[in-house]
Amino acid sequence: MVLAYPSQRVAYPYFVVALFLFILQVIVGIWLASSYAFTMPQGLVDILPFSTTRAIHTNLLVLWLLLGFMGSTYFMVPEETERDLFSPTLAYVQLALLVGTGVAALTGFVFGWTKGRPLLEIPHPLDYLVVGGALIFLLNIGMTMLRARRWTVTQGSLLGGLVFLAVMYLFNLPFYANLSIDWYYWWWVIHLWVEGAWELVAAALTAWILMKITGVPRETVEKWLYVELGLFLFTGIAGTGHHYYWLGAPKYWLWVGGFFSALEPVPIILMLVDAWHYIQNRRGQLNGRLVFTFATGMAILHLVGAGFWGFAHTLPPINYYTHGSQVTVAHGHIAFFGAYVLLNLMFFYYAMPKLKGLASYDERRGTLAFWWLSLAMLGMTLAFSVAGVLQTYVERVMGLGYMTAQAQMRFWFTILAVLGLTLLAGVVLTVVDLLTLRPAPPAKASA
Ligand code: HEM
Ligand code: HEM
Ligand SMILES: [Fe+2]
Repeated sequence: MVLAYPSQRVAYPYFVVALFLFILQVIVGIWLASSYAFTMPQGLVDILPFSTTRAIHTNLLVLWLLLGFMGSTYFMVPEETERDLFSPTLAYVQLALLVGTGVAALTGFVFGWTKGRPLLEIPHPLDYLVVGGALIFLLNIGMTMLRARRWTVTQGSLLGGLVFLAVMYLFNLPFYANLSIDWYYWWWVIHLWVEGAWELVAAALTAWILMKITGVPRETVEKWLYVELGLFLFTGIAGTGHHYYWLGAPKYWLWVGGFFSALEPVPIILMLVDAWHYIQNRRGQLNGRLVFTFATGMAILHLVGAGFWGFAHTLPPINYYTHGSQVTVAHGHIAFFGAYVLLNLMFFYYAMPKLKGLASYDERRGTLAFWWLSLAMLGMTLAFSVAGVLQTYVERVMGLGYMTAQAQMRFWFTILAVLGLTLLAGVVLTVVDLLTLRPAPPAKASA
């Protein structure tokens, strides 16, 4: 039997839904790029304005990444606690609730029903359903761990990250009449998610996968986990200040935010060092070359996207010019992709074959998909970056008008639309491959 615990099966529908939403997200991204590159007919813009499609694109991203994390957690926890899930039924109820809420929110956006906070546009009443879904999830995972009483550092960091993630969402619930205060707490969700809670979840899931595929001892992985997590929390929490430059917060945030966020790449570099460490360890015992490729690619692109592209605009004298420009968007794409899209895909490639009852599988299409996606995303990031530098220079250094800058950027958005189509082909390849995994061909099996 390939699956260690029958209840791990609940992960499957989470992965399938996540993958379909991923395709949809990228299609909408191409629409967004086209709105910059070409003049869309007014009739279309009236039905689907940029603000609406942007909300659909980003909310789909957040939704599918979270569903992926949840499915991965449901897959990992039984093996880690050596016990079946507390309630598989609750896991299915939770999925139905969250997907239903997602569909309602996305439909609502089209009709102008939105809270208006970027990435968290989901209308207020629906927030309570999200909180309900999160509570069911934490209850299910928490009860499984409590009953098993087999605590490990990996499990603890995962649960810690998930609780942190859910608690920060609560700051998105109140209505703040003062716009400065609204933005202040908005960052508690956005920043403390991607540079705090999600990093804990990512570190725990990666540590677990590395133990599984390289056979590296638990103590080695968990020793690093302590160091990384401590540093992530330390730099990530104080680093929130790099978003307070513009919203009317006291001046000391300029140097607090600048200093601590500049240190944020340190734990990410450690993660990369960590990955190299395992590469040396792996000889003769690597159990899943493709999963390892995804893990290494993730460590590198996480550093590139969050570390390099993040550092590039985090210091106040630079952010003064680049704030809210396409430079920010370039960073948003490569950071989300490197850190969290690849994390999910790494986990899917580990778990999917087992969920389908395959002991080993043909990794060729998946390897192609990895390179295709990563290179297309790097190309997109460069296109966004060139557009961003042009925008910053024309608008903010030369002081010319918004549309003068847009005219200079158009060419790069046309390139972006083409690269987006390329990325879409890679996403479709990935999804088709994951859903139709085949046993390894005999000739390659021993390679
Ligand atoms: C995986 C981790 C990360 C992800 C997914 C991520 C994602 C994002 C996104 C989507 C935004 C745009 C938010 C918006 O205005 O709508 C943003 C902004 C920003 N990020 Fe990150 N980020 C990550 C890590 C980092 C790190 C480590 C740094 C610093 C070293 C950093 C520096 C910044 C700065 C300075 C901004 C604000 C840009 C502006 O003023 O327009 N990020 N990030
Ligand atoms: C893995 C794939 C993708 C990820 C992770 C992703 C992520 C994001 C994020 C986080 C934002 C918000 C940016 C910010 O506020 O700074 C965004 C906006 C956007 N995305 Fe994507 N996206 C993906 C695919 C695409 C594709 C394929 C295209 C088109 C070629 C695209 C085009 C855009 C555009 C044009 C925006 C709006 C930027 C703006 O507000 O000016 N995205 N995406
Ligand atoms: Fe941040």
